[in-house]
Amino acid sequence: MTQGIFITLEGGEGTGKTTQQSLLADALRAKGVEVVTTREPGGSPGAEDIRRLLVEGEVGRWTPMSETLLLFAARNDHLARTILPALEKGEWVVCDRFSDSTIAYQGGGMELGAGVVRELSKLVVGETAPDLTLILDLPVETGLQRAQTRATEENAKEAGNHIQRYERMDQAFHERMRGCFLEIAAQEPGRCVIIDAAGEVETVHEAIMAAVLERLETRIP
Ligand code: TMP
Repeated sequence: MTQGIFITLEGGEGTGKTTQQSLLADALRAKGVEVVTTREPGGSPGAEDIRRLLVEGEVGRWTPMSETLLLFAARNDHLARTILPALEKGEWVVCDRFSDSTIAYQGGGMELGAGVVRELSKLVVGETAPDLTLILDLPVETGLQRAQTRATEENAKEAGNHIQRYERMDQAFHERMRGCFLEIAAQEPGRCVIIDAAGEVETVHEAIMAAVLERLETRIP
């Protein structure tokens, strides 16, 4: 059976993951690859419902454990209904965030501990792991400023849009989270590549394409 390729994009707020996801997907499609783009939390109807519970509302609305369980409930549904069926068809899945975000945000930022998140991940995600994880890295302050500018611009277009729950968490939270992403990259160099996200969109895209082609070019049909 053909098995597709699973690529995840990770990083803090304002690192430009979503823009880069779409540029990467277009570039792969231009090479003849069947690509599915998806995101977490979300990516299936049930998981998108759970997403709203997580990104809206008061900063402290969940305990770190209840929040983590919601994320894994969403991830389980997303895997079963979107990611695994696509991989089984031989498609490439390019996913905006996955389990590393839970290690970094809930394990590190919310201080639940990376070990607890990894245990849950073994239970809920099992053997499925990304073939390649691109960690978009940016100083925390720059990322939060970019995220806030984006929220203000969206506000101007669409009444009621507001700065997301995680963007309102304090600087120390974001520093712990960034540190965790860098630690994951150091622990798993075979899977992870750090991408400097400070440059122009096109420069970051070129760095991403170089990493993808270096590691996966032989898998392009
Ligand atoms: P997004 O802004 O990248 O679309 O993601 C929504 C928010 O969800 C983002 O602020 C980070 C947060 N998040 C977690 O805290 N833990 C997770 O496991 C995931 C997937 C996302």
